[in-house]
Amino acid sequence: MNILVNPTVAFYTLGCKVNQNETEALGALFKNHGYSVVDFNEKADVYVINTCTVTHLGDRKSRQMIRRAVNNNPEAIIVVTGCYAQTSPEDVKKIYGVDLIIGTRDRARMVELVEEYKKGQEPITFVGDIFQARDFEELPIDRLINRTRAYLKVQEGCQQFCTYCIIPYARGPLRSRSIESAIKEANKLVEAGFKELILTGIHLGAYGKDLSENIDLADLCREILEKTKIERLRLSSLESVEISDELLNLMADNPRFCRHLHIPLQNGDDEILKLMNRPYTTADFRHLIQKIRNKIPDIGITSDIMVGFPGETDTHFANSLAFVEEMGFSGLHVFKYSPRKGTPASKFPNQVPAPVKEKRSKAMLKLAEQGFVNFAQKYVGKTLDVLVETEWPQGGWEGHTDNYLRVILTEEVNKGEIVPVRIKSVEKKYVRGELIKAGTE
Ligand code: 5AD
Repeated sequence: MNILVNPTVAFYTLGCKVNQNETEALGALFKNHGYSVVDFNEKADVYVINTCTVTHLGDRKSRQMIRRAVNNNPEAIIVVTGCYAQTSPEDVKKIYGVDLIIGTRDRARMVELVEEYKKGQEPITFVGDIFQARDFEELPIDRLINRTRAYLKVQEGCQQFCTYCIIPYARGPLRSRSIESAIKEANKLVEAGFKELILTGIHLGAYGKDLSENIDLADLCREILEKTKIERLRLSSLESVEISDELLNLMADNPRFCRHLHIPLQNGDDEILKLMNRPYTTADFRHLIQKIRNKIPDIGITSDIMVGFPGETDTHFANSLAFVEEMGFSGLHVFKYSPRKGTPASKFPNQVPAPVKEKRSKAMLKLAEQGFVNFAQKYVGKTLDVLVETEWPQGGWEGHTDNYLRVILTEEVNKGEIVPVRIKSVEKKYVRGELIKAGTE
């Protein structure tokens, strides 16, 4: 058996914020076992591809990246994990060079399984029945790298079963991390220098349901704000029907709680929402958005929209466009409906042809841009705090305000600082700002 000296591992992550968090955690796990993490394009001893299957593009890109890893080093051990690995292990197994398939559970055992593979040199598929999963698997993330924003995963699984969605089959039942454990991890991240914490989950709004009838996301957020010194707390995607008054009050009253909500609407037509098995109407949604804006005037509200769901006619789509425009989202992710095997909608009649989906997606994306520009223009001349996050390739720095305006700065600033910035002008996808130096205002 080969014992590797100074072994290296490289990661590639597809898809959502939960996957990004999990890859970070896996990085920490490998490091704790003596591995060094190298770039995915470099020659590594082990490659881990953390896959996505939310659409067929997720599948395709996942397969591409697996093949790229095999190409980068044909001798390497290729580990495929995540949602595509969980739902389609047989398809993954067929790809030449794959050595180890681990679904969305038992990831804490990944290094151990790599060692086992080294001994036996036989491909291993480690994908269990996800519907039997009961515990929230805690994977502490790497605290040694000083980064600006950290994703903290507090919830796993989804039992909503929207008719288009494969994720409940990839992630299994609802499982929440305990408040104590989340706070412990959050405090470690604060100590490591992170300024912003983003709470993530597969169905974040369902946080706590499996823990106790009395615990929900608002409780978790309140405790994190009280018991940690994190400067900014942000939420990732939340379902409209799970946004409580308590949560909104907390956000309205606490300046450390970022005024930003990502609320997936999916469609702006009531018939389509019903076919999707979404638990609200456009009237409910409108009412909620009005309430939120009344309470928190500067909030940035972003959303996910799907176009080309089976049965979506031109009239439905026109309704969807009009409703999305009315909602004034400051950002939008647009998805073309992708039939997922095993989901009800994949067998619905009146599937929409690809060119129609394409056209609708373009029209929706135009609206997305307009929504951003309208929102951003309200802030020209105003001063907002920006967390400096990444170097901008053309020079300068990029960061976000608490209400999720993407800001570009040209002054010399330090990564990880929160600085006051006056918004100067609006581009298509970001705004330009100038640093307000101490004593100048
Ligand atoms: N086709 C296209 N988009 C989908 N999404 C989920 N399932 C599908 C599908 N089958 C989108 C939804 C969700 C986002 C994460 O992915 O808009 O909010």
